Amino acid sequence: MYRDLRERCPVAWTNAHDGYWVLSTQEHASALLRDHEHFVSGRHQDEDGRWHGGDSIPDPQLPPYLLLENDPPIWGFYRRLLNPWLAPAKVAARQARLEELSTRLLDEVIERGSFDLILDYANPIPGVMTLDLVGQHVEDWQRWAEPHHAAIYTEPGSEEYMEAVAGILWQREQLIEAMRERRGEPGDDLLTALATARTDDGEPLGLEEAVGILMTIIGGGVDTTTATTANGLLYLQRHPEARAWLLEDLDDRLPQACEEILRYFPPVLGVARTVAADVDFADQKFAAGERVLASVTSANRDRRVFEDPDAVRLDRVNNRHLSFGAGIHRCVGSHAARAMLHTMVGDVLRRLPDYTIDEDKAVRYGPNSVVDGWISVPVHFTPGRRLGASSWSSWRAMNLRPATF
Ligand code: HEM
Repeated sequence: MYRDLRERCPVAWTNAHDGYWVLSTQEHASALLRDHEHFVSGRHQDEDGRWHGGDSIPDPQLPPYLLLENDPPIWGFYRRLLNPWLAPAKVAARQARLEELSTRLLDEVIERGSFDLILDYANPIPGVMTLDLVGQHVEDWQRWAEPHHAAIYTEPGSEEYMEAVAGILWQREQLIEAMRERRGEPGDDLLTALATARTDDGEPLGLEEAVGILMTIIGGGVDTTTATTANGLLYLQRHPEARAWLLEDLDDRLPQACEEILRYFPPVLGVARTVAADVDFADQKFAAGERVLASVTSANRDRRVFEDPDAVRLDRVNNRHLSFGAGIHRCVGSHAARAMLHTMVGDVLRRLPDYTIDEDKAVRYGPNSVVDGWISVPVHFTPGRRLGASSWSSWRAMNLRPATF
């Protein structure tokens, strides 16, 4: 469908979800995301309490994700607070801890020859690493990660969805409480940085604002990398020749292969904006208030940018995919995401090289426009040996047993 749209109707209109434009070529999707003056990210509440606008369609009925769903100038202030915490040097400094965590989680399952890729491994790693950065107790990672997954894979308005919303609201209260504590007792974590941040006028950053930023980090951090890891490992299971090729020289080939996995299986399928004022764009007239979706999935398969776009080429060079977005809101977590993706895909291939996924029992997210993910992915493999406690000593005191034990 997208191939057809790109060729015949690159700027399309759909009546779904109160109507919105769909941009399917990379040129238009990228231009939209770079034009933050005409196409804005902010979300607002109407008199009946319903939320409109923001980064995804349909409009989620939750408080906005701050930073992601803000526009300049306040966006710039929030982003400056966050940048140092997710910069390449900070991510590199946490790499050893990430590898220890991965070793430890695989040690827990390696002797039994089976595990759940999502529940035991690809959910806990981003969950624990994100909470560790924020400064919350990592043992509780499930209570922090699960509501963000469920808010995406359950039907809005359903009982499960409302439970997920309640879980997210619980997290907000916990974070406010933790920031109050950090003001008296600072630590080396993001909670402290935000609890003690000052605005350009020298005023303390409001706790509600700080919580809004933290919720974006937690929401953005826990779901996306999990989905890409699962989709990548599933692809390698379906294409044994690609897995064998990668295993021949894993260290060298992994980074490029992961970029191609990101291009082909973008976990964030599309990114939305709202038209700020009437504007001519891509030979169409866009009216103020209309909603526009940049389809990342489609832009990543555009033949004008990628040779043989519908094929996965793990050695693709110059891979200019839009999976991390473009323009001012381009993913601030991209370095952390790549580090986790490389570690997870690499360690599964290294330690469980003959893994097979039981596709009949794997459970996919329900239809949604936000993240293409998996709820459960059972895996079997030839049992191996544990690498031992010394390799995960910094996490030893923590109760991080896999979910399916
Ligand atoms: C494979 C993993 C990931 C993908 C594909 C991804 C994708 C994206 C995309 C497409 C955007 C731009 C949205 C827009 O323009 O409206 C974005 C923004 C963002 N992402 Fe990620 N993300 C990933 C991982 C992460 C991680 C691990 C974190 C945090 C640790 C994170 C935090 C954020 C935040 C805070 C923003 C908002 C940035 C801003 O508005 O300035 N993301 N991400």
